[in-house]
Amino acid sequence: MLIRGRRNRASEGIRTLVREHTLSVQDLVMPLFVQDGSNRKTEVVSMPGIFRYSPDLLLEECRYLVSLGIQAVVLFPALDDSKKDKMATESVNPEGLYLTAIRRIKKELPELVVITDVALDPYSSDGHDGVVNEAGDIVNDETLPVLARMAVAQAQAGADSVAPSDMMDGRVEVIRRALDAAGFTTTGILAYSAKYASAFYGPFRDALDSAPKKGDKKTYQMDPANSREALREVALDIAEGADMVMVKPGLPYLDVLKAVAEISSVPVAVYNVSGEYAMLKAAALNGWIDYKKCVLESLTAFKRAGADLILTYHAREAAEWLKK
Ligand code: PBG
Repeated sequence: MLIRGRRNRASEGIRTLVREHTLSVQDLVMPLFVQDGSNRKTEVVSMPGIFRYSPDLLLEECRYLVSLGIQAVVLFPALDDSKKDKMATESVNPEGLYLTAIRRIKKELPELVVITDVALDPYSSDGHDGVVNEAGDIVNDETLPVLARMAVAQAQAGADSVAPSDMMDGRVEVIRRALDAAGFTTTGILAYSAKYASAFYGPFRDALDSAPKKGDKKTYQMDPANSREALREVALDIAEGADMVMVKPGLPYLDVLKAVAEISSVPVAVYNVSGEYAMLKAAALNGWIDYKKCVLESLTAFKRAGADLILTYHAREAAEWLKK
């Protein structure tokens, strides 16, 4: 007897019935870039369709995302060089661009989950996620208090969840303690646990003008050749108090995502990063692929691999398609 797998693929009805994973707008988190000014919207050259918004337009964009059913955004600040220094001091300026933007969004759209970024790079004159010493090393333990202050300032501004993207050792515990000590016991931590030293972050660094001035990020971000290490980082972050863990980038690391999803006792996020977005967009703009189908297929692959939430620059478009 011939075993016929095709019977379960015979019609859209049957395919729908046996489908294992469904992409929902509720899985999607939209990353957004904020810049100074008002009524200003600047397209990121290497990310067509993605903009840096002044705070007023950012709020408008968030309103639109909420109307699409998107529940969460993750915010990144694009600062002028004049605001950057070695210790990232602008990151805790309560009247600075980032913290005022967070306060404004949470005031106008309290139901929108706002996830904030904890790392030095957008504010650092060195373009690194940690403090750089005279020898040029990115120093772990000196960075931790800076991250903790940043996290508390963001919680104070109303962040629902702070997301350390810096890959310093021990930062989740230090941030958890600082948040609790400041009374922010309900502010969550989404840890970028398995974050690789990836070339796919290129367009993001264009967006924020945040590329390292010297060297690379390989002493803190993970080697793309490793997966066992990802499980260790995830286990540590969970032990230190992470409420959710993340794998980043996405598509080139689906095996890591799957392995993490299998062992994690907390929800697992994946970051479908800027370079991944740029690849599909560029191919689409050349007329080489069916953009919508490729995006939905990619996002579904994250669900299949075990992601509970997906940070993706396609979130806005995907939400529009899923709504119809
Ligand atoms: C840095 C940070 C990066 C991204 C998010 N946070 C880049 C980096 O590590 O250099 C990348 C996101 C993307 O490429 O979309 N803290």
